[in-house]
Amino acid sequence: GIEKSIRPSDLEHYIGQEAIKKNLKIFIKAAKGRNEPLDHVLLYGPPGLGKTTLAMIIAAEMGAGIRTTSGPALERPGDLAAVLSSLEPGDVLFIDEIHRLSRHVEEILYPAMEDFCMDIIVGKDDTAHSVRLNLPPFTLVGATTRAGYLSPPLRDRFGVINRLQYYSPAELSLIVKRTASVLDAKIDGEACDEISRRSRGTPRIANRLLRRIRDFAQVEMGGVIDRNAARIGLSRLQVDEMGLDRVDHQLLMGIISKFGGGPVGLDTIAAAIGEERHTIEDVYEPYLLQIGFMQRTPRGRVVTDHAYKHFNMEKGG
Ligand code: ADE
Repeated sequence: GIEKSIRPSDLEHYIGQEAIKKNLKIFIKAAKGRNEPLDHVLLYGPPGLGKTTLAMIIAAEMGAGIRTTSGPALERPGDLAAVLSSLEPGDVLFIDEIHRLSRHVEEILYPAMEDFCMDIIVGKDDTAHSVRLNLPPFTLVGATTRAGYLSPPLRDRFGVINRLQYYSPAELSLIVKRTASVLDAKIDGEACDEISRRSRGTPRIANRLLRRIRDFAQVEMGGVIDRNAARIGLSRLQVDEMGLDRVDHQLLMGIISKFGGGPVGLDTIAAAIGEERHTIEDVYEPYLLQIGFMQRTPRGRVVTDHAYKHFNMEKGG
């Protein structure tokens, strides 16, 4: 339709991740010039940075279709075999959370990625034998928050490996401005900057905060999002000056108040604050490490002086 989507639909409109974009443009152009599918692509990095969006853009830029599934959804080898045998030539197969594939499912993927074929067992007992089926050429795009959890044989079969980075405030501000325009929300530049500065480098967070601030502005502030409306909205959403939310606070303050600032093991922290170990590891911790509020040591997590300062506290006090 005419309506622009919140997700950009081509590389031209995708903001940030400049190094990845620049290389992808070349690889896509080269593959198209050879009339081949793009080599398999692995995208990894913290949640909310645009891995799914990039997968959709890769398919669009290749002029290909896209099939989307996820590691947890592919429980048995047959689940993956069904998806693979339904692919059209050139399709992108997007597997989110690809680190959660079981080993048996992974083993179907190796020959599919390498030789576009699939070995299936036909018959029973004495007559059981394996039959090799050809698949159409396709591009696997895998996404994961944890490249370290991928088995080496799977990781080695990706020809393009990209780690997504946190976005700069300037990039996020452009994204907020673009999203506001798609939503037809009235916002000024200062409000875009305020939201961006407090979105933990993450477009998904920036866009969510924008929507909620728009709600406050619409119901209580006459509909226009200026810097003041953004500040009031962010405070009502319990997002602090650094963009840290309630869970970030619980995590850091939990380590400070219950474990003297650390070092403390991740499972111990998780139990103490009632949050999943994996959620802490994948969602919260990476940004706190990036801004230097937390450190990982061999003996566990440590809250740094920077974080103490942010909370107006003294270490050991
Ligand atoms: N919306 C979410 N992520 C985006 C990005 N990287 N560029 C443009 N719009 C976006």
